[in-house]
Amino acid sequence: MCGIVGIIGTEPVAERLVDALKRLEYRGYDSAGVATIHNHVLDRRRAKGKLKELEKRLHTEPLEGMIGIGHTRWATHGKPTEVNAHPHISGGVSVVHNGIIENFKTLRAELEADGYVFETETDTEVIAHLIAREMTRGAEPQQAVQTSLTHLEGAFALAVIFAGHEDLMIGARRGSPFAIGYGNDEEPGMYIGSDAIALAPFTNKISYLEDGDWVVLTKNSAAIYDEDGAEVSRKISLSQAGALIVDKGNHRHFMAKEIHEQPDVISRTLSHYIDLGAERVDFSELDIDFKTLPRLTVSACGTAYYAGLVGKYLIERWGGLPVDVDIASEFRYREPLMADGGAALFISQSGETADSLASLSYCKSKAQKIISIVNVQESSIARESDEVLPTLAGPEIGVASTKAFTCQLTVLAALAIHIGVQRGVINEALEKELVRSLVEVPRLISEVLSHESDIDDLSSQLSHAKDVLYLGRGVSFPIALEGALKLKEISYIHAEAYAAGELKHGPIALIDETMPVIVVAPEDDLFDKTISNMQEVAARGGRIIFISDADGEAAGCELSSMIKLPKAHTFVSPLISAIPVQLLAYYTAVHMGTDVDQPRNLAKSVTVE
Ligand code: G6P
Repeated sequence: MCGIVGIIGTEPVAERLVDALKRLEYRGYDSAGVATIHNHVLDRRRAKGKLKELEKRLHTEPLEGMIGIGHTRWATHGKPTEVNAHPHISGGVSVVHNGIIENFKTLRAELEADGYVFETETDTEVIAHLIAREMTRGAEPQQAVQTSLTHLEGAFALAVIFAGHEDLMIGARRGSPFAIGYGNDEEPGMYIGSDAIALAPFTNKISYLEDGDWVVLTKNSAAIYDEDGAEVSRKISLSQAGALIVDKGNHRHFMAKEIHEQPDVISRTLSHYIDLGAERVDFSELDIDFKTLPRLTVSACGTAYYAGLVGKYLIERWGGLPVDVDIASEFRYREPLMADGGAALFISQSGETADSLASLSYCKSKAQKIISIVNVQESSIARESDEVLPTLAGPEIGVASTKAFTCQLTVLAALAIHIGVQRGVINEALEKELVRSLVEVPRLISEVLSHESDIDDLSSQLSHAKDVLYLGRGVSFPIALEGALKLKEISYIHAEAYAAGELKHGPIALIDETMPVIVVAPEDDLFDKTISNMQEVAARGGRIIFISDADGEAAGCELSSMIKLPKAHTFVSPLISAIPVQLLAYYTAVHMGTDVDQPRNLAKSVTVE
């Protein structure tokens, strides 16, 4: 999703802006640009495609100046062309923007009637013209931005610079994240960015604008104002982002590295929620009484939503608490009825997903206690929550989520035990048994990873498929959904997942000898049912890839291939079967030669609806 950066300093900024943009690459983008002011003159360079194209452009046509803004664009309104790339300019005003201006059509018509000529198909260009119009009417930059903001509807983070003003940048936030970085005495300067990771090379002193805030920056000051124009102060904290190593190590892709990190990051996450000596869960800091809680409402998007579905199975089955799970983009407009004294749980890797954040606001307005499971602890969702349950996965760069997903499952499993203990459905012996099963997970995942070359071989066949079907039952159904999503995201092969019991209500019509059917079937109490469904596929010539800890003979039908899993407690089976579906997607994409870490059209952090 779009990334914005800005620097006012005492050194040339163009290269530094590109470096900061590189740290936002993981969010997904399809064009990029920077604008600077030098000797009072505003100038910009933009390029379609990856940042190396922008770098080439800057190499042949350098930009000077010690103030500038930069942008990676993930197209929403208008194709990913150079003309549509940010920064946009009107008169002496230049703007970068992340988010969507929902009333841009009305504003565009109004500005065109006023004689403004639009060069692009973007919604952003209206912002540049609005501010420029205010300035031609005599407003100073600050007043021009403040007035223009009142015309904008939608969610956004934006930064503006002005020709002739080399010590002034104005930023604003409504919905989309916006971090401010503070320089120091040795290296004076002020920075802005979509997240603290982008600013890590420059500073770790960070504050965040709150919704409705806007900020006036000079090279050594930041004056922050709220929606009503009152000056406010926002806490400055020391970000950990700089300490986080963001490289591929010995791996070909971030995704491979992140898949392999899972034993470590799950151990780290577990140690946060488990007292290993006592073999008990430890949620002593979580101030929620699950004994009296009527219901838990979960909402999330994408992979995090599938984690929520697994969580529903775990919390209802083991914790004895009813759980509703919704896709956040549906939940936010459904106006769901919320129980008095209820709690809502949000699951998000980035903590910035626009729909999840909007659902959170809805639940807050309904007086729900807000809990979140987030990976980025400085994120908006974390900051808006009453209770934060961190996943300790470290930065996840591959667009397709892997380690964040299994860490989310880890927290949900530990939480299910905690809830079960509080509600009196898990006794001490069972708690210890379940905790022991969780502690085994990192070792079991390492075992699956040690057989990855077999999955690589199998994936070379899968890479020829046009469509793939995934089946699972119970807690394995969300894993089938996640497997299909992973394959679609990075290999572009069409894949669908079905609850195995639903097969004969439609998808069985698709089965023929060309259709790979991946069956996720750990040996649990639904195993026999899944096997019957699998035999129905075999009887129609489907090519079955069987993922199970049972022996191949237990399938009772011809298998095209089998991925044998180590034996695990059924409580943790989703954590184990998640690994082969990640590896299948990864190696299939590698065989197909796609851009694994930044698949086409996708964004890591979806900060627009
Ligand atoms: C995007 C990403 C997915 C992610 C989803 C939710 O679509 O590509 O990998 O699962 O957003 O993101 P979140 O940060 O809220 O977990």
